[in-house]
Order: sequence, then structure tokens, then C-alpha cells
Amino acid sequence: MMEERRIFLPSPKLSQQAHIKSMEEYRALYRESIDDPEGFWARVAEEVEWFHKWDRVMIDDFAHARHAWFVGGKLNAAYNCLDRHLTGARKAKAAIMWEGEPAGETKTYTYQQLYEEVCRFANVLKKHGVKRGDRVSIYLPMIPELPIAMLACARIGAIHSVVFGGFSAESLRDRIEDAGTTVLICCDGYYRGGRIMDSKATADAAMAQYPGMQRAFVVRRSGGKVDMQKGRDTWWHEEMAAKDIASECKPEEMDAEDPLFILYTSGSTGKPKGVLHTTAGYLLSVKKTFELIFDYHDGDIMWCAADFGWITGHSYGLYGPLCAGATSVIVEGSLSYPKPDRLWEIVEKHRVNIFYTTPTTVQACMREGDEWVDRHDLGSLRVLGSVGDPINPEAWMWYYTVVGKEQCPIIDTWWQTETGGAMITPLPGAIPLKPGSATVPFFGVELAILREDGTECEVNEGGYLVIRRPWPGMMRSSFGEPEQFKETYFVQFPGLYFTGDWARRDEDGYYWLMGRVDDVIKVFGYRVGAVEIEHALTSHEAVAEAAVVGFPHEAKGQGIYAFVVLKSGVEQSEELKKALADHCRTKIGPIAIPDHIQFVTVISRTIQGKTMRRILRKIAEGDIGDLGDTSTLADRSVVDSLFEGRR
Ligand code: WT7
Repeated sequence: MMEERRIFLPSPKLSQQAHIKSMEEYRALYRESIDDPEGFWARVAEEVEWFHKWDRVMIDDFAHARHAWFVGGKLNAAYNCLDRHLTGARKAKAAIMWEGEPAGETKTYTYQQLYEEVCRFANVLKKHGVKRGDRVSIYLPMIPELPIAMLACARIGAIHSVVFGGFSAESLRDRIEDAGTTVLICCDGYYRGGRIMDSKATADAAMAQYPGMQRAFVVRRSGGKVDMQKGRDTWWHEEMAAKDIASECKPEEMDAEDPLFILYTSGSTGKPKGVLHTTAGYLLSVKKTFELIFDYHDGDIMWCAADFGWITGHSYGLYGPLCAGATSVIVEGSLSYPKPDRLWEIVEKHRVNIFYTTPTTVQACMREGDEWVDRHDLGSLRVLGSVGDPINPEAWMWYYTVVGKEQCPIIDTWWQTETGGAMITPLPGAIPLKPGSATVPFFGVELAILREDGTECEVNEGGYLVIRRPWPGMMRSSFGEPEQFKETYFVQFPGLYFTGDWARRDEDGYYWLMGRVDDVIKVFGYRVGAVEIEHALTSHEAVAEAAVVGFPHEAKGQGIYAFVVLKSGVEQSEELKKALADHCRTKIGPIAIPDHIQFVTVISRTIQGKTMRRILRKIAEGDIGDLGDTSTLADRSVVDSLFEGRR
């Protein structure tokens, strides 16, 4: 076990004004949320508007892989993100501040303006026969039409399925087909890294293989030439400008448990799974987590740098902030183009108070050097978030000191597409931080770390992370395959939700996430988390990034294979490999010494920046013949280059 002893206390100034002001206050409220979950969540539910209040707060039936929230209640998610804010001053407040990739292209939507746009597009959908319960696929880049389309669906009770705008035709087709959609919202093209991406052609290729598509609404973004198929394709702006399209649209009264959206996550093999989220539970969990984990106060500017094609964008770019009445910054294109400091430029320009990104982005900025950060006045920042992967302590420290100037807590949030909202997370004013730990469970979240036989692990013993009871933000089902939900999450430990993650809990009750269970390496029967070895490697001064996987080893059962990116200017050498091996021994123990170290210039990652250990394992094993589902892989050519560089 790698030890990390540094602790960072919340500043008294931050604590004083925070919603949750101390560890004691957190503990008391946590106890309450566990002893009386119905009371806790009913209070949260009172913060939004209902057409009809619920009859029952919760049905807890994990024994049958089932749960339900606010049963009998009726509400509308778009109404709560828009209409609810239209009384008083908030009406004129910015809901969305959009930043296009070509410099200087920006657009602000007040709550009133966003409301009108959403109503208009909702009316367009209705005019073309889209009804409550229909699925609508949205294949757009980060432009204002993306949140407008999502909220328009929510307003009329259609189920949106956002497909990341960078996916291939085949990936898009799979997701359209699985959701059984009849309507697609796409665009002509968009900007990324100084290039125009030809988006409509990709959408056309997907639709050509799916005869069920009846209508495509095409947003004009790049102005490029596109083929419009007669009878199927129409322009967004023409539809919106039609005389019969009103800027008011009565919100559909949705059942609390009616689906709000589907979002696909890649399974390790086979086709992607459609994670189904429902209206009330999802909305309330993202509202409450947004307000508390980022300590949101009225007037704060939130920038969640994740694309809306992922759950992070859904929850903390759109539904969380808007339900709370916040201003959300939305950015098109690459964050490092034309210069590595585009990101900091945006923070400075929009006076961002809360910034949320991935460890991979933090590491990439760290490699570019401090000068890009130092060039900007980042004094508006108050809270810095991280999500998607364990953040290594070196990157954490850099984020904390160089970006946050030791004034902003690092909020390392653990959660999943399946959980809808953050489940293990610090609270800015209350929880002392330990670099590399996601710290403590959020309210209402009851966790356990189990051994294979279902018994509880000791303090600091690594084991399977499970969720013991329902939480409103958790998925309800796999779309179209209700049995799959049970088979994927509830079979390993009957009656408990198995996260698929490996973790330990320390003597202070802090959680340390150590990667997916599949990433655990069993050396001489002793389990060591890939992430622990990676953190040991990145704590060495020569190392910029590391990814570790296991491979079959005759004597040890499994051996350790490390892919290492060196800091720029550091020479590769056999001595350095030896020094790194020694470093792992000192940090963790002899069990963690890598059998192979391969120096590489880049690590194979997903589009979101997650380390693809499943693929790296194939490389370590020397067989890249069958890679399984690669739709989320950022760059396929990396795999081949890593394979070639293998000994
Ligand atoms: C998996 C879920 C949640 C939105 C983005 C990813 C890993 C996520 C952390 C973190 C350590 C993390 C877990 C989890 N993960 N956040 N803060 N520390 N690991 O969503 O694609 O559904 O992936 O990402 O392994 O199970 P996702």
C-alpha cells in the first residue's frame, strides 16, 4: 500500500461561508441521511416544483435489483431548470455562456432566452410528431443547440440519447439502433483544433444503415456544403423560424419515474449499454450534489469542461447547474488550441468560480508547463474539481498549487455514468483533503468494501466497492434489456450494487479508489491495484505519466507491465528503468516491482481521457488481434505504435 500522509484543511474563510462548514456538521448530516433517507430526500424534493407531490419517497428493493423514488410524484425536468427561475431577477441572469472555437465567437443565453429557445424547439419536435416516451438521438458538438435540444426533449417527455459528436458513423448507428430512435438532431460540421469536422456526412453514413430514421434536424454551424435528403432532413433554423412555432410550450407532466434520458457506456466487450436515468431521482441528486460538492452560491460561474456526450456534462454542465439556477459555461472545440492556455484564457475571461475537469487534462496542462497558467489571472477560481480517474498525488499537488494557488480545494469526485451524480467526494468547507483520495461518501450513500466471499475488508485492505442501498441518482435499468441491469450489477454480491471498482478505506474512513477490479494485478496471489503502482511511478521525478497492467506470468501468476511517459528532457536508459523499479519497491514493496517497463510517448486512452487498461493488457500480452469495442478509443494508431514499441 502506498502511503500518502499530506492533509490539507479547508481555509477558515471558505468554511465560514460554506453550506457545510465542518467535519462534525458533515458527520451529523450524513448520519441523518442514512438513518432517515426518506426524510433527507423529501427535504431536497421540496426545493423543486411539482405538479403533484409524491406518495412515497422510496422503494428499496435491491434484493430484486429494483428501486424507485418519489413514487406517484409528477414534475418536469425542463420546467425546473427554466420556468422555475423566471420570476424575479434570475430571469435576466445568464443560464449559458457559450464560447465557440474560432476566437471571439461567444453567445450568452439568459434564463428567459433559453426558455424561449427550448419552448420553440419543443414545439418543432411536437409539430413533427415526436411524443412523450419517443427516443430522440442528439449528435452535436458543444454548441448551444445541444442543451436546447436536450431540454426540449425533457419538456415534452421525449427521451434524449446524446451521442458524443466525435463518434464514428458505426458507433452512432449502433446507439441509434439500440435506442430505436426515429429522430436525429445533427449539424453540418463543427470546429475542433482549427479544423472543420464534417459531421453531417458521418450522420448520413449512420442513417444510411438505419432505415428507421424518419427525420433529421440539421443545425447550421460550419456553413459547409451538405447533402439534405428530401423528406427526411430539414434545417434547424428554418424550423425554428416557422410562423406556427410559438415560444411557449406547456411542459408535459412527467411521472417521477418516467425516463429522462439514455446514455450509452461502452462495455468491455460487445455492444454499448444504454444506461437509463429517470426524472425526479436524477434531477434531485444532481441538483443537491452540484450545490454541495462545489459549494455553489448564487452568482457563481460553473465551468464543467466535459462534453455533454458524457454523463459529467449531463449532470454538472446542464441539469445540476440549471436546476440550481447557476450560470454554466459551454465551450466548443479543443481546450489546447490554438495555444495550450486556451483553457486558462476562458477561466479568466468568464471569471469562472468552479472548474471541473479530468486528471488527464490536469496532467496534460502540467506537462505544458506552469508558464501557461501563470500568464492568466485565475483569481476568480474558488473550487477545482476532478473526475473520471484516480488523480495521482503529483497532478493533485500541481492543480492545487499552480492552478489554485493553494486557495482552492481539489474536489476529487468518484462516480459513474450509472450513479448519475457524485457519490464519493469532499465538500469544500468541511472535508480535509488527502491528495489521491476521493475522501468520503456523499449524503445518503452507503458503501462497503468486500472480499470475494462477501465479508467486509479490514481498514486499508483492498476489496470490491459496493453500494448497499438505493440512491436517487442511480440508474433504473439498461434500456431495452431490463435483465442486463441485474446481471451486470447485482450478481456478484446479491442484493448489493457492485461498482466494478477496487478500493480501500483508511483509518479515517477515507476512500482510495484503485481502478477497475479487472485492473487489479495478482502477484503471487497478493493483490495490488494498477493505480497504486502508477501513482508510485508518477511520484518519481523523471516520470510524467504511467499506465500499469498485469500479464500472465508463469512463476508469479501475474506479472506487472508498466508503460511510462518520461518528462521532457529526460533520457531513456536501462539505469532509469532500474531506478523506477527500485522506486516502486520503496514506495509499495517488492511485490510492486514491474517486470517490464516500456518507455512510450503517449498512453492509449479513451476520448474522455481514461486510461484504456483493457487495451494495454492486450499489448502487454502480445496479442492485439481482437480488441473488443474500441468506439471510445481516442486514437487507434496509438495502439499500433505501442505494440510496435513492445519488446
Ligand atoms: C468509472 C466510471 C463519472 C463520470 C465520468 C466517468 C472511474 C470515476 C473517479 C475518481 C477514481 C474514478 C471509476 C468508475 N472513476 N471517477 N474520482 N477516482 N476513479 O464515468 O465512464 O461511467 O466511469 O470511472 O473506475 O467506476 P464512467
